[in-house]
Amino acid sequence: MTNIILTGDRPTGKLHLGHYVGSLKNRVAMQGDPENELFIMVADMQALTDNAKNPEKVYSNVLQVALDYLAVGLDPARTTMFIQSQIPELSELTMYFLNLVSVGRVRRNPTVKSEIEQKGFGDSVPTGFFIYPVSQASDITAFKANLVPVGEDQKPMLEQTQEIVQSFNNTYGEVLVNPKGVFPDKGMGRLPGIDGNGKMSKSLGNGIYLSDSEETVAKKVMSMYTDPNHIHVEDPGQVEGNMVFTYLDVFGKDKEKIEELKAHYRRGGLGDVKIKRYLIEVLEEELNPIRTRREEFAKDPEQVMLMLKEGSEKAQAVAAQTLAEVKKAMGIAYFS
Ligand code: TRP
Repeated sequence: MTNIILTGDRPTGKLHLGHYVGSLKNRVAMQGDPENELFIMVADMQALTDNAKNPEKVYSNVLQVALDYLAVGLDPARTTMFIQSQIPELSELTMYFLNLVSVGRVRRNPTVKSEIEQKGFGDSVPTGFFIYPVSQASDITAFKANLVPVGEDQKPMLEQTQEIVQSFNNTYGEVLVNPKGVFPDKGMGRLPGIDGNGKMSKSLGNGIYLSDSEETVAKKVMSMYTDPNHIHVEDPGQVEGNMVFTYLDVFGKDKEKIEELKAHYRRGGLGDVKIKRYLIEVLEEELNPIRTRREEFAKDPEQVMLMLKEGSEKAQAVAAQTLAEVKKAMGIAYFS
């Protein structure tokens, strides 16, 4: 059985190590399985729902996100990478889906609810933002995706999509595919930021980016949150909640060495600078090839945009086919 897999990212900034361990790595692995057909979408329309007055932030990051995709090894020969706004069928589908969802139902979406609170929108919430879970249902169903790998915070979007699929199919006939969310393993989903405050995120400014230079990575690691009570090298230190060890657990390959370092740190006599130097080495092993590929692709942005154009054309053909079936089922395919 082939899987049709769809996922996407809002182009509001470059991608960081949290994206890498939480999803990008997994996408590359899925791409390697010939049973899988992958669609990866740069969700610029969704990014515009709360950046309408700042479109430059959105369109300038489309290229940056595409560069991150290519840098980690997503391959346009095997994975269709495309830009959401270039597929008008997605918006058309959204209009029909909106009729199947009540205002009360959208209001109950816990992720949107907390985003509205966080952003202090209140009643001034843009309507497009308010209904983005419905638009996301179009993104997923237009490709008849059966698997949608996303973060925990996207669970409500999957539930909303499943409800829309059920409602549509019950009302108009079996056209849409019911998708399953694929969520990261416990632990992997939420890489904390270098300050140890919550997850790595752009808005908290606690990220290490795939595009960061070696010097920047080193500087960030040197500023990492460790154990505030580990003042002198000879003091016993704490490993739990110490970001250097958290990252070593995630990125380190030499598990034996890491266990030895932990024991030494707990006993005392192992300084922060030493473990940080080791972490820099470990991260560089992972980041160096990514950075090199990224720089290579960044030399030819037109080529990257062409890749997205071709991906968008391929994606549009698929979405158009689904939309034709949708309109036929609804009885509004008047002229075909
Ligand atoms: N909401 C997703 C995020 O913020 C991005 C997204 C848009 C998406 N459409 C999608 C993810 C469809 C999966 C499927 O990360």
